[in-house]
Amino acid sequence: MDLDKAIQNRHCVRKFHTKKKPNWRNIIECIDAARYAPMAGGNYTLKFIVVDDEEKIKKIAEAAQQDFIAEAKFVVVVCSNPSRTVNLYGKKGECYAKHQAGAAMENFFLKIIEFGLSTCWVGHFVEEQIKDLLKIPEDTNVDAIFPIGYEYEKPKTRKAKIDLNRILYFNKYGNVQMKKERSVE
Ligand SMILES: Cc1cc2nc3c(=O)[nH]c(=O)nc-3n(C[C@H](O)[C@H](O)[C@H](O)COP(=O)(O)O)c2cc1C
Repeated sequence: MDLDKAIQNRHCVRKFHTKKKPNWRNIIECIDAARYAPMAGGNYTLKFIVVDDEEKIKKIAEAAQQDFIAEAKFVVVVCSNPSRTVNLYGKKGECYAKHQAGAAMENFFLKIIEFGLSTCWVGHFVEEQIKDLLKIPEDTNVDAIFPIGYEYEKPKTRKAKIDLNRILYFNKYGNVQMKKERSVE
């Protein structure tokens, strides 16, 4: 699949086939793609936990208070320990750890689409419950949860995205014109 198609077809799915199970090797390849994301100072802060234990998936759905997660055959939990970037860059390091988690997770998501699989980026969950369940260390944050499966039905219409002209400025915040600003002489 070409890059434009993967980007434009990417969407969050909340209804999965309950009988079709993805090939776990494809999921590993998606995690492999996440390794290529940019990382501040080349320090990789992320870990990926692949869960296929049905009981654990049910508990993850409870911790996220989102029932659809329980239908997924796999859940990938992304977590990160920002201590290295914080040691190197101080307060900014916390921010960098979040940036690079986002970059890696988007790589992962796009690769999921390329394999014909579906997921939803889940950011709402009770972090302590997920940490207890998966024995995630104290110093490590849970960034997001990705339930993975085959989409139950194709969406009829693609949800409209925000217009480009609402997010694009030139040379200064708020300037929507590409034209060079005239200098006052
Ligand atoms: C940081 C973040 C947190 C999100 N948390 C949730 C969530 O907890 N549950 C959910 O169903 N969708 C969640 N989403 C998915 C968004 O609702 C979704 O991306 C948005 O509605 C746009 O739809 P699309 O991804 O299909 O284009 C989250 C997305 C992001 C980026």
